Amino acid sequence: MAIESTFIMVKPDGVARGLVGEVIARFERKGLTLEKIRKLDIDEDLARRHYEEHVEKPFFPELLDFITSGPVVAMEWSGESAIMVCRDLMGATDPKKAAPGTIRGDLGLIVTHNLVHGSDGLESASRELEIFFG
Ligand code: RTP
Ligand code: MG
Repeated sequence: MAIESTFIMVKPDGVARGLVGEVIARFERKGLTLEKIRKLDIDEDLARRHYEEHVEKPFFPELLDFITSGPVVAMEWSGESAIMVCRDLMGATDPKKAAPGTIRGDLGLIVTHNLVHGSDGLESASRELEIFFG
């Protein structure tokens, strides 16, 4: 057993489309526990800190425009192997390739507008939880 905490965020497209409850319901039904939740707007400074590994990537300007375009819902979820379990429930980064049954596979189509963010490891989880809830 390895109980983990992970950082999950419903991105601006998910909030605008009224899918916050849908995302929360999927994690809850899996058996994970919602520990913290807050709605906020991400400014450029926060976007650069959160996505620090992507600031030099060609897609970063589009990602920056998108993630600052409207409110997001930031959350901490906990449970057995929560980091991997949440990533599996989210599906592949590109929603058109994400498997049916996953959040991105069922609800998304365009890679930038992929509805949710989830930490990809123990280190990023603690870094991202500190940024949003520390
Ligand atoms: P996330 O960090 O949001 O949970 O997504 P991820 O790990 O599945 O994907 P990552 O490689 O970390 O990419 C971060 C976000 O950047 C956007 N992206 N756009 N246009 C593109 O080729 C492209 N590639 C990535 C997506 O919004 C992705 O979630
Ligand atoms: Mg990532």
